[in-house]
Amino acid sequence: MSIRPATAARVGATISGTGLAVPSQILTNADLEKLVDTNDEWITKRTGIKERHISEEPLRTSDLAADALLRALDKAKLKPQDLDLVIVATMTPDMVCPATAAQVVAKIDAVPCGALDINVACTGFVAALNIAANFIASGMYAHIGVIGAEQLSRIVNWEDRNTCVLFGDGAGAAIVSATDDPNQGCLQQSMHSDGSKANELYVPRTEQDVPGQGAAFSGKFDTLQMNGREIYKFAVNTLQSSIHEALEECGLDLNDVKVIIPHQSNVRILESAREKLGLPEDKVYINLPRYGNTSAASVGICLHELMDAGRLQRGDLVVFIALGGGLTWATSVWKL
Ligand code: ACO
Repeated sequence: MSIRPATAARVGATISGTGLAVPSQILTNADLEKLVDTNDEWITKRTGIKERHISEEPLRTSDLAADALLRALDKAKLKPQDLDLVIVATMTPDMVCPATAAQVVAKIDAVPCGALDINVACTGFVAALNIAANFIASGMYAHIGVIGAEQLSRIVNWEDRNTCVLFGDGAGAAIVSATDDPNQGCLQQSMHSDGSKANELYVPRTEQDVPGQGAAFSGKFDTLQMNGREIYKFAVNTLQSSIHEALEECGLDLNDVKVIIPHQSNVRILESAREKLGLPEDKVYINLPRYGNTSAASVGICLHELMDAGRLQRGDLVVFIALGGGLTWATSVWKL
C-alpha cells in the first residue's frame, strides 16, 4: 500500500499494465443456430459477431476479474499488495452484496486494499478509468486496479434471438499508476446519463420495473430487454458527437489520435460511426467478431489487445468511449 497525502501536488497517470481473461468455452454462430431460429449469415451481416466466450459453473465474475487483474499486475511488474484501490465495473456482480471488487481483492491476496463496484452497464470501464484518473491526479493513490468484468450469459434470455446472439463474457483490466510527468495521463473526461430512456436497454426484475405494462409485459424478468433500433441510433449519434466534443475540449482533433477504443456494441454501429467521422479502419479498434458485446469488459479487453500487440506507445493519444444501459455514456482522452 502506498497512499499519498491528499494534499500532494497533482501528478500524471500512466497505464502501467493490462490484462484480459475470458472463459475457455466458445459459443459460435453455428452453436446458436441450434438454440434459436437464427443463422451465421444474419448474425455476421447485422452484428459482425462470429463467436463469444461463455462461462461455465463454477466460474464467477470475480474469478474473471481477478484473473485479468493478476495478468495486468504482472505486466506492470507490481504485486497485488502494491494496489491502493480496486474498481470493478460490472452489471453482473457475483452477488448484490458484497461488492465483487472486495471478492477480487481477497482472491488476489491484497486485503485490506480499497474496493468498490460501479454499475453503468457497458459504460463501466471508461467510467472506472475516469474515477481512477481523478484519484491518481489528486495525489491520493499510486496504483489503482481498474477492471471491467461481466458474465452477460447469466442475464441473457437464451430463447430470445433478438438479444442472445449479441453478448459474451470476459474481463479486461488496467493498472493506473502515478507518474512524475504531469502531462501524461487523462487529458479529458466526461460522464453522462439519461434515465428517462431506461427501458431501451434494461433488466426488469418485477412488474414495478415495467410501469404501464404489468401483466402485459411480454419479455422475461431478470433478463436483458432491448429496443435494438433505438439503441442503434443512440449509439451511432453519441459516438460521433461525443468523440468530437471530447477532442474539442482538449484542443485536439482526429489527426492527433492514434486510436479510438470504443465499447464493442456491434460492428455495424462502429463502422457507421467511423465512416461519419471520416476515419480509416485502423483508427477505430474492433474485436467484436471474437468476443461479441462483453458490456463493461469490452474496452478493457480492447486496450489489453492493443498494448499486448505493441500498437500503443508512450505519448500516443487514445480516445476511450463507451455507451450503454441507463442510458449512459462516457469519454476519456489519454496521453499514454
Ligand atoms: N437471427 C435471425 N433473425 C433475427 C434475429 C436473429 N438473431 N434477431 C432478429 N431477427 C429478425 C427480426 O425478428 C426481424 O424479423 P421480421 O422482419 O420478420 O420481424 C428481422 O430480423 C429484422 O429485425 P430488426 O430488429 O429490424 O433488425 P436490425 O437490422 O435492427 O438488427 C440489431 C437488429 C442487430 C439488434 C440492431 O438493431 C442493433 O445492432 N441494435 C443495437 C443493439 C446493440 O448493440 N445492443 C448492445 C447493447 S447496448 C450497447 O452495447 C450500447
